[in-house]
This record gives sequence, C-alpha cells and structure tokens, in this order.
Amino acid sequence: MKIGICNDHAGVDFKEKIIRLLKARGIEVVNFGTDTLASVDYPDYAHALASAVESGKVDLGIAICGTGNGMAITLNKHAGIRAGLAWAKEIGALVKAHNNANVLVLPARFIPYRTASLIVRTWLDTPFEGGRHQKRIDKIPCK
Ligand code: RB5
Repeated sequence: MKIGICNDHAGVDFKEKIIRLLKARGIEVVNFGTDTLASVDYPDYAHALASAVESGKVDLGIAICGTGNGMAITLNKHAGIRAGLAWAKEIGALVKAHNNANVLVLPARFIPYRTASLIVRTWLDTPFEGGRHQKRIDKIPCK
C-alpha cells in the first residue's frame, strides 16, 4: 500500500504526524506537500497528488489545508478523484463506506490532531460497501 499526502502551509504539522502514523502501519508514503510554514497555494499541491492517484503512482491520497475546502475543490476537478472532507471519525468511515473516497481531506485549522488521526485510521480500516453506493458513484461523472 502506497499513500500520497499533500498539504499547504496550514497542514505541515498534521502532515508530519500522519506520515509517522502511516509508516508505523507499514504504509509507504509519498510526500507531495510543502514542508515549511511559508505561504503557498494549495492547488499546486492538490494537482500533484491528484495526478499521482489517477496514474496509479499511489493507491490513495490524503490532503490537508486549513479548511480542507481548497484541497477538496481542486482535487475533485480531476475525473479520477473522489475527494471527501472529514471532520469526525464517523465521517471518516462513511466517506469510504458510502463514497469510496480515494482521497481523504482534513481541515487542519478546525479539528485537533487526535481527531485527524482517528479519521485517518478509520478511513483506512473501513471497506467500501458497494451495492447501492456503487450505483450512485457511477452517476457522479458529468455527461
Ligand atoms: C490558507 O490560508 C487557507 O486558505 C487554506 O489552507 C485553505 O483553508 C483553503 O481552502
């Protein structure tokens, strides 16, 4: 399992901790984010992660910015991406079980790291339910 992770300046701290969490679970991590607190533009990092997920360079992605919305909006411009914003453990489960999100997005300025870590672990451990949810996912692309 290989996971790509990206972040802007608001997500550096969470990114570093999540990389440690993932590596402790034996997951290979590719870092597409910024590593300093200097102000940057989230689309530059979101597009790099989205391309890596779409091409299969990584299996899944995690994206972090202040609200999560800049990352989610940018990532979801890519046809092969289903990026889901999660701010509670239960949403981390549902965004995989129902939406099969291949990128998890976290709002670093609005949740404590403990919640972020629970969300990441829950999203990883929850299987996609398929069935009626697959039918709905099939209807997402614009015609
Ligand atoms: C950066 O200040 C902030 O705008 C960004 O992290 C994110 O919240 C944008 O959606």
